Amino acid sequence: MTLNSVNRISGAGMKQLFRTRTHRHEDYADSGLKRCLSAFDLTLLGIGAIIGTGIFVLTGVAAATQAGPAVILSFVFAGLACAFAALSYAELAGSLGGCGSAYGYCYSAFGEFIAFLIGWVLVLEYGMSVAAVANGWSGYFGNALRAVGLDLPHALTTQPANGGLVNLPAMLVVFLLMGLLIVGVKESARLNAVMVAIKILTIGVFLIAAFGDIDPGNWSPFMPFGWFERGPEGHTTGVLAGASMVFFAYIGFDAVTTAAEEAKDPQRDLPLGIVGSLAFCTIFYIAVAAVLTGVVSYKELNVASPVAHALELLGHRWASGLVAAGVIAGLLTVMLVLYYGLTRIMFAMSRDGMLPGFFSRVSPTTQTPVTTIVIVGVICALFAGFIPLGKLAELVNIGTLFSFLMVCGGVLVLRHTQPDLDRPFRTPWHPLIPVLGMLSCGALMVFLPVDTWLRFFAWLAIGVVFYFAYSMRHSALAASHDAA
Ligand code: ALA
Repeated sequence: MTLNSVNRISGAGMKQLFRTRTHRHEDYADSGLKRCLSAFDLTLLGIGAIIGTGIFVLTGVAAATQAGPAVILSFVFAGLACAFAALSYAELAGSLGGCGSAYGYCYSAFGEFIAFLIGWVLVLEYGMSVAAVANGWSGYFGNALRAVGLDLPHALTTQPANGGLVNLPAMLVVFLLMGLLIVGVKESARLNAVMVAIKILTIGVFLIAAFGDIDPGNWSPFMPFGWFERGPEGHTTGVLAGASMVFFAYIGFDAVTTAAEEAKDPQRDLPLGIVGSLAFCTIFYIAVAAVLTGVVSYKELNVASPVAHALELLGHRWASGLVAAGVIAGLLTVMLVLYYGLTRIMFAMSRDGMLPGFFSRVSPTTQTPVTTIVIVGVICALFAGFIPLGKLAELVNIGTLFSFLMVCGGVLVLRHTQPDLDRPFRTPWHPLIPVLGMLSCGALMVFLPVDTWLRFFAWLAIGVVFYFAYSMRHSALAASHDAA
């Protein structure tokens, strides 16, 4: 092979890496998936994915170990970063079609290689969340069973690394959701709606029950850990470190965009679903953080279930059961919507040749991607049942922040490269909002611990290898160019 021909090949390869493709919603009018979700369903899907462990657990941990009562500010900062990102998501979700979410938007803005990496990161983010949340869910479910006198054997509720055999409830709940997602998206959305109602009710009852017990003395000192400090072992404290932890509580509104091919009127309803669900949850979160740190000292909140714990300290004994119900319902919908989102992102990547073709098969009977749902479900169930995820779950934050940052960047790039794209929703104050989104998401990434960064790079490196070994050769876009 001559030097010239190597140059020609690498030149063509480089071109492929950055070749973009743009799809409108009408391109997916007949993708095989069933268009049945309204704006209301989409908003509930967003709330379903958003409210979960973050608010019920992390609020207390972040207050006790990182931010003190100023965790309220952590929620405000993380909420702002998410609001900037959500407005950017809303613009792209309204104008670009396909269920690949940030992966699809980056394909239009930055080309195939970056899009693949974003898709790769999303697969980790969503997959890890489902398995990690299944673990958390199993713990709460076990507690609820104990409360009614049923005690599951330790060996069947604990992974081998922690002295058990398998975490069976964690596996079973993933299989339950698998069945539901196979049956249909409308049925899944219905269950989601019921569970969302339960968790909103739980939070509402907490706010009402605890409001009268607020003692402003608990908010002083307000910022015992300052703004930001990095300890010798990379552990971070302060309001901003708290913001990058409680950011987890907001994750999920992006999953609404993966329903693009199942929404009845995606151009109008996706922006509504994204912004509506995030706005609703932000108000709730700030209220919960304020009331929680107002009723007990922040030092008391480093426990597994701080909301229930605070209510017990206040003497509201009945509350514990109520919060357990809220958490069980809450975590179920987080898993359901993220699992759903994961299958749609893999579906979109497979359709573009980035992943093997069987991931984009749709069952004509149920109009759902059954093969993907089963494969993803089995893998997530195995992870949930046998592997303690611990620190890996932190990867979820960094991966999500990265995809948010790229979506904000995508708005800037596409306004420039495709000024005439139909944009039913336009991010206000452009370019300020996307720029603020990039800066704030980038800053929250910086505040994360060093080992999280190392793991993130390791995952990206595996992705790069996969891209060059498989995706680049199977790219549908490259094939269409070669054929032309
Ligand atoms: N936002 C979701 C939660 O808090 C992921 O559980």
